[in-house]
Amino acid sequence: MNKKKLVFSGVQPTGNLHLGNYLGALKNFVSLQKEMNCIYCVVDLHAITTFQNPNQLRNNVLETVASFVATGLNPSKSIIFNQSAVSGHTELAWILNCISRIGWLNRMTQFKDKAGSDKEKASVGLYIYPNLMAADILLYKATHVPVGADQKQHLELSRDIAQKFNNDFNCKDFFPLPEPLIPKNVSRVMSLRDGNKKMSKSEESDYSRINLKDSADEINKKIKKAKSDSDQIPDNLKDLEKKPEALNLVNIYSEISKSTLEKVLNEMSGKEYSFLKKKLAELLINEIEPVGKEIKKLLGDKSHLESILKKGKEKANIIAEENLKNIREKVGLI
Ligand code: TRP
Repeated sequence: MNKKKLVFSGVQPTGNLHLGNYLGALKNFVSLQKEMNCIYCVVDLHAITTFQNPNQLRNNVLETVASFVATGLNPSKSIIFNQSAVSGHTELAWILNCISRIGWLNRMTQFKDKAGSDKEKASVGLYIYPNLMAADILLYKATHVPVGADQKQHLELSRDIAQKFNNDFNCKDFFPLPEPLIPKNVSRVMSLRDGNKKMSKSEESDYSRINLKDSADEINKKIKKAKSDSDQIPDNLKDLEKKPEALNLVNIYSEISKSTLEKVLNEMSGKEYSFLKKKLAELLINEIEPVGKEIKKLLGDKSHLESILKKGKEKANIIAEENLKNIREKVGLI
């Protein structure tokens, strides 16, 4: 039972996706699409756990879809849709709210980080966010979930919820326990200004990140200005790891050039960082600029993007309704 592999992942509609999203998530989604059935969901209901300007939210959802397609996701192969369009997500989330334990949620480190010092003022939605994420995954009985390292704890919670449901309702193997697929090297692309911070769209300086829509000129400037190190490139990882900004640049270079860190160090040790930066900028422009152009082109035809979402929603809804029927029955809902 449930032997079939199914990939599910969710991406927040932040708009303006960057190199971190690209290397850490999107590229991985595209390669998974070649081997397995995949469902990729733009999680607008997760986004509203903190206030979103409605017009901006709509635009961001479409821009996220455009970024999916521009990086190579194929809407006739993978299911691409937005979370709020399939009402099963919220229905299952409610049921799972009753399975999940307060003690489990209290351990979630992301809530603590996001709620900050004044937890009393955080929305209830932000607190139960991980239960909705479990619902996203379990609604489709997904078996594999590509996520960044920061989502590992949420995925463990999803497994705990699945297991408790299977136990409580005496239906062993009803929900498969979803496995995380965490990219090894690049689960963390760091800020170009501070190698200890993740690359993020919320960092103030635009020089901290490469946006997918950046022009060749912008990419060039940002890499040139990126923090590195005044010493030469070392010949071993141990020394490199002492310099987080330098490590980040080598890391990105190795990922984009499909080479290992060791090989890059072999090739570059003893050289100045400016040498690495020049090559890195060339590779990035080659890879990112066409993606950015495609995103802009796709954004010019909103109705096309909406029709991708609509088709995806229809396909997702069929699976969701079928599974929900069985879930309602297990729980005893008439
Ligand atoms: N919480 C995830 C993030 O911020 C997004 C997400 C929502 C997700 N639902 C999901 C990821 C289900 C994987 C599976 O990155």
